[in-house]
This record gives sequence, structure tokens and C-alpha cells, in this order.
Amino acid sequence: MPTETLAGETAVNDVVSIEIDGGIGLIALNNPPVNAASHAVRSGLWQAVETLRKADGVEVLALYAKGRTFIAGADIREFGKPPADPWLPELCNFIEGSTLPIVCVLHGTTLGGGLEVAMSCHARVALKGTKVGLPEVTLGILPGAGGTQRAPRLAGISYALDMITTGRQVSAEEALEHGLIDRITDGEPRAVALAAAQDLKDGSLSQRRTGDLVATPDAAAIETMRAKLARTQPLLFSPHKCIDAVAACHLPILEGMKEERRLYEECMKSPQRAGLIHAFFSERAVTKIPEASQEPRQISSIGVIGGGTMGSGIATAALLAGLPVTLTERDEAGLGRGVQTITGNLEGAVKRGKLTAARRDEILGGVLAGATDHAALAGADLVIEAVFEDREIKKAVTEQAEAVMKSRAIYASNTSTLPITSLAQASKRPKNFIGIHFFSPVDKMMLVEVILGKRTSDRALAMALDYIKAIKKTPIVVNDSRGFYTSRVVMTYIREGLMMLADGVPAAMIENAGKMAGMPVGPLSLGDEVALDLAWKIVSATRKDLGVKYVEGPLDNILEEMVVKQERFGRKNGKGFYDYKGKDKSLWPGIPEVTGQPKPAESFNIEELKQRLLVMQALETARIFEEKCLTDVREADVGSILGFGFAPYTGGTLSYIDMMGTAAFVDLCKKFTRKWGPRFKPNKLLKEMAKENATFYGKFPPKPEEKVRDAA
Ligand code: 3HC
Ligand code: NAI
Repeated sequence: MPTETLAGETAVNDVVSIEIDGGIGLIALNNPPVNAASHAVRSGLWQAVETLRKADGVEVLALYAKGRTFIAGADIREFGKPPADPWLPELCNFIEGSTLPIVCVLHGTTLGGGLEVAMSCHARVALKGTKVGLPEVTLGILPGAGGTQRAPRLAGISYALDMITTGRQVSAEEALEHGLIDRITDGEPRAVALAAAQDLKDGSLSQRRTGDLVATPDAAAIETMRAKLARTQPLLFSPHKCIDAVAACHLPILEGMKEERRLYEECMKSPQRAGLIHAFFSERAVTKIPEASQEPRQISSIGVIGGGTMGSGIATAALLAGLPVTLTERDEAGLGRGVQTITGNLEGAVKRGKLTAARRDEILGGVLAGATDHAALAGADLVIEAVFEDREIKKAVTEQAEAVMKSRAIYASNTSTLPITSLAQASKRPKNFIGIHFFSPVDKMMLVEVILGKRTSDRALAMALDYIKAIKKTPIVVNDSRGFYTSRVVMTYIREGLMMLADGVPAAMIENAGKMAGMPVGPLSLGDEVALDLAWKIVSATRKDLGVKYVEGPLDNILEEMVVKQERFGRKNGKGFYDYKGKDKSLWPGIPEVTGQPKPAESFNIEELKQRLLVMQALETARIFEEKCLTDVREADVGSILGFGFAPYTGGTLSYIDMMGTAAFVDLCKKFTRKWGPRFKPNKLLKEMAKENATFYGKFPPKPEEKVRDAA
């Protein structure tokens, strides 16, 4: 094909175009939003290489993407559909086999299948700020287009194993250091593609055909990773398959890829894959704000009351999102501590490259304001209260803040348990009163639980959602009740751990059961993190509010003994169920003094302990759903995974029940009720669903448009 026919961009199909510029064949991908390697991308890319290969005078090819990122992975939406040629692994092999050398330019988040395409090119250049990774394991699968074979060839077995089994994203600098890419540069993708291709042509950028490289054998790295995952993730399916696939990288590449494909297919069939991919899409769906309420609502300034653990985190999140913050505290000492924590947080953000030093100086020079008088909140559009979990103090600050706040400004409480409707009684403008419940540590936890009081207006909800979007977190919206959704379920997990202690289960066994069930930490450890004195305060407040209806249990005794008598509050004072020394912790040997001597571990079935911990949380979620505190099944699932790390491979608390089948779940609850007590009694909704053989997703199909009532 003569060169001149391809001057200027020519579309190969809707998502791929080509052009020729001075002997360089350029291929551009444009498949918004993330250039996922859909069928159209794969076939277009194949055709583009074919066409350019036949064009006169073309010596090298350069591949780049338009939009926010190079390919961010295979198109997950195509999973489960009949395969359409070419498959991604075939395309990667075709690219690698191209007689014309191909350089690719990476930007944004080059992930999964995107990095696999890149690794099959003959040179890789990344723009500054690019992140690369093989996150398939987080979706319950493994890199299935040669990633498990090419990453070890480029970066070594040990490093590839770490990337593939954690799914972590790494910086371009780190990728360069480990040989995954060849160069980092500045510029925009097309211009960099042209320049890189020129360098490939004149030899100043060298070519590597990954399939021809040999990964240095490293049996020790493989065995170490096997031992580590057997200990830390015994229940997960795909991480172990990832190791098996990488272990095949000593084979010729096509043989290794056959083994990779076989293991990939096994993962695709696993229910864990279904759960994790379900969670991926649910998480994105709940973040969406319906069209009707998308008008800008102008939150240009935030007020935060209380600069403790939560308040300082909340203030930092707003500052990092570019919002000015006024922090108020009860006295100068409190204010000093709050500002110091925020300063430290900003320092950390500068170190991690999330904030420039100049912006930090601007923030500390006035974007962050502090005061000991709540009158300073007069200009804020949204005030978030994060003072002690104490009704009287919360009432007082609500009154003081509202006395100066603009009449249309929103007042939010970060309470972890106190019903919003009751806190709103202190407010003159209950329509503007809402719950915005953050999780600790604020910078790491992506979930925010929004709580609607009885009188909370749609406008207040829309403002809260806008704000959560601005700070790039994921909201779920729940109706008011004690403990809302997440705290209530988390407390059942911790409570079940305490009940096990009371049953005589050894503490270490309880903790292992939690982790083996897929929870990020054991229930006793979580109790320490949340703070046992806070748990005790919650129990005491609940007891006071419920009066004679409150049922005392072994949990009350254990908590009282730990907090009141032993002054063991958890991590915050260095002693709880664990003893803390710096970053190290070990189970407190004195636990039997509080709970009595444990029985031998053999008296308990670990599988049953694991189930107890998951079933209790799922059951509580079903109750909360029946009470209509939760109204969207996806929010239940997403809230459970992002809020308290409920075993992600299950897809979330309600998906866990759906996957087991409602009838089987109800049977298990009944069995546990007989054995462990009435707290396992299945609720009415579950029993009805079991009779109908219904699932949550079938019976309550999610309707995103109902999340925000029209805010007009
Ligand atoms: N396939 C299909 N759609 C995808 C996708 C993918 N791989 N990745 C993202 N999307 C969609 C999202 O669902 C969302 O759609 P929506 O707007 O309709 O809800 C949209 O792209 C934007 O995504 P985010 O809201 O997540 O945007 P962010 O900018 O916050 O994050 C991202 C971008 C870092 C790329 C993030 O989306 C992400 O982590 N994606 C998944 C990456 C991944 O897991 N890749 C591996 C896929 S599996 C694979 O490659 C198998 C292979 O080995 C064979
Ligand atoms: P904290 O004890 O670390 O901080 C509370 C801060 O409020 C202190 O700095 C205190 O000086 C300040 N304060 C007290 N009275 C005040 C007043 N009248 N005016 C201004 N400031 C005042 O407590 P933490 O952990 O930050 O909790 C705050 C709120 O957030 C509580 O309601 C808690 O239930 C909730 N929460 C806590 C979580 C956690 O994990 N710590 C998680 C989610 C919510």
C-alpha cells in the first residue's frame, strides 16, 4: 500500500486509527473511558498492524492511546460472553511476532491486559505519572494474556510474583527500575510515540522481544510465596493459581501461556471471580449520582468541628480535594493537636507525590483556618461535626454552630452510632441535618456512609453526595437507625469474637478464623482498632436508651472488665486484647483472667467458627435490609467490602447469602441458633425468601435512580 494514502489519521474502525509519518506507522486507540481491550480494540489493533506492515516505507510502529489512559485492561463487561476473535493472548503473540518493531507509549493506569499488550511490544515508554499493574487477582482471576509469562521474563520471578499476587499498581519509576518499561518521558502520547519510534529506528531505544528472554529460575521465590499465601490467604482461589502460572515461565512462552490459559479458565469458573467482579461494578454503580441531581451545588468551603482522629482526617481529605477548611476545637490545646495532625498528613501527601510543597504551604498559610470559637464557621457551606461520641456535647456544638451558619448550609454529624433523627432534635433546621459517617483511617477508607434523618431534605442529601464525589470517596445512603448499617454489622463481628471467647475458644483461634474467613483482621484485633472504650460507651448508651429491653450478655461482662477494671482500651492506649509495642503486637497473655481458661482448640471446628463470623454479619445485614435502613442491595455489598472488609471474594454480605442460597443460609442460621443462641435466629424476610427460593438480587433488583430523590 502506498504511503501517501495514509497521510493524516485513517479510521480502522470506531476505536482504532492509523497514520504514517516519515516511515513511522502510528496506531491510536480511542475507546473511552479507559480504552479497555474490547473486541473492537483487539480486532482494530490487529488490522492496524496488518495494514501498516503492508504499507510502503514503514519501518517501525508506535502504539498510543487517546484519552485518560492507555489500555486499563481486558473489557470486563465481555467476561462470560462467547469468545470473539482475536483473543487478547493471540493479539499479544501477534504483536510480539510482528516483523516491524513496535514501541508503545503508556500513560494513566496501564493495567491487566493493557500491560500485557505493552509487554508484548518491543519497547515501552511511559509518560511521567503513569501507573502500571496486573490487578487481575483482585477480580478473582490471573493475567491471562501472557502476563504471568512475560512479567517474570522482564522483571524477574520474585518481583513478578509480588505484582501479580497483590495486584498492586506501581509507579513508572519502579517499573523502570525492575525492567518492565524502558524509559520515562514527558509529553503528550502522540508526540512521544513519534519520538520513541524515531529512536527505535535509529537504535537509540533498543528492542527487546519479551518472549525470547529467559526468566532466571527462582524456585525459592516461588516456594516462599506459596508458603506466604497458604498462611495469609488460604481461602482465596486465584492467588494460588497465579503462582502456578508464574511457575510455568521456565517453559517456552507458548507452552507457558497454554498453562496460564488452563489456570485462567479455572479462575473464570470460580464463584469468587463472580463475587469480586460483581463487587467491582457495584462499587462504581453506587458512586453514580443520577442525572436529575447533577446540577452543581457549590460547596466552596467546609467546616470541621473537632480535630481528633476523625476530624483531622476529614479536614485533610477536603484540603487535598482543594476545598478550604475551617477547623474548630474546644480549646487551644485541642486545636494545636488537630492542626499538627493535619500538617503531618499533608507532609505525608507531599512525600507520596499527592501534593506539591507549594500547595502545602498555601494550605498552611490560610486555606486551613483554625479557631476555638464556633463563630468561625459562619462562611462554611457544609459543617461536619466530629466531637466525642456524647449526646450532650454534640447537642451543644450543633446549637453553637447553627447560631452562626448560613441558613442554607448543611450540618453533618460523623457519629458512628447515635441516630441522626435524635441528634437533629438539637437543630433548628433538621432539613439541613444529615449523617456523613467516615471510617478510620479516613485517608485509606474509601467508603462514606450517608445517613438520612427523618426530616433530612433531598437537597441536603444531594449536597452530601456532591461533596463525597469531590473528595473521591464512595457513598452509600442508608436510613436512620442505631448503628446505621456498617457500625451495626461491625459490632456483630466483634461481638461474635467476644462470644467465642466466652465459649472458651482460644483467642488465637478466633483471630485465625476471622482471617481465614477472608476478613482483613480478626474480631478481637478489630475491637482493639475501633477502641474497646468506644465499644463500651456504645453498649452503655444502647443499654441506657433501651432500658429494660436491653438483654445483658457475656459481652457486657468482658467489655466492662477490659475497659473499666483493666483500663485496656485497645490500640489507642497500647493495650487491649493485644499488647502493642510500636508497630508490633501480640495477644495479651492475661485474656484468660477476664474470660476464664480457654478449652483445647480441638474442641472447636475451625470451619464452623469461620462460618459463624460471616453468617452473623450477613444475617445482621438481612435484618437491616428488612428494616429498610438499607434499600439498595448493591450498597449493602459495597458498604460491607469497603467499610469493614467483609470477605471480598463473596461479593459482599447479601451476595454471600445469594451465593449460598437463601434456603441453605436459613438452615445454617437455625443450626447455629440451636447450638450458639438466639442471636442467630433468621429474620422473617429471610424465611420467606427461603420458602420462595428467592435471592436478594432477584427479589430486589437495584434501581440506581432511586438513590437520590429529585433535589429540585
Ligand atoms: N473493563 C470494562 N470497563 C471498565 C474497565 C475494564 N477493564 N475498567 C474500568 N471500566 C469502566 C468502569 O466500570 C467505569 O464505567 P462506568 O463509568 O460505566 O461506571 C469506567 O470504566 C471508569 O472507571 P472508574 O470509575 O473506575 O474510573 P477511575 O478513573 O476511578 O479508575 C481504573 C480507572 C484505575 C482503570 C479503574 O477503573 C480500574 O481499576 N479498572 C479495572 C482495571 C482492571 O482490573 N484491569 C484488569 C482487567 S482483567 C484483564 O485484563 C484480564 C486479562 O489479563 C486477560
Ligand atoms: P477523638 O476523641 O479522637 O476526637 C474528638 C475531638 O473532639 C477531640 O479532639 C476533642 O478535643 C474535640 N472536642 C470535644 N468537644 C468539643 C467541642 N465542644 N468543640 C470542639 N471540639 C470538641 O474522637 P474521634 O475518634 O475522632 O471521634 C469523633 C466522632 O467520630 C465520634 O462521634 C465517633 O463516634 C465518630 N467516629 C469515630 C470513628 C473512629 O474509628 N474513631 C469512626 C467513625 C466515626
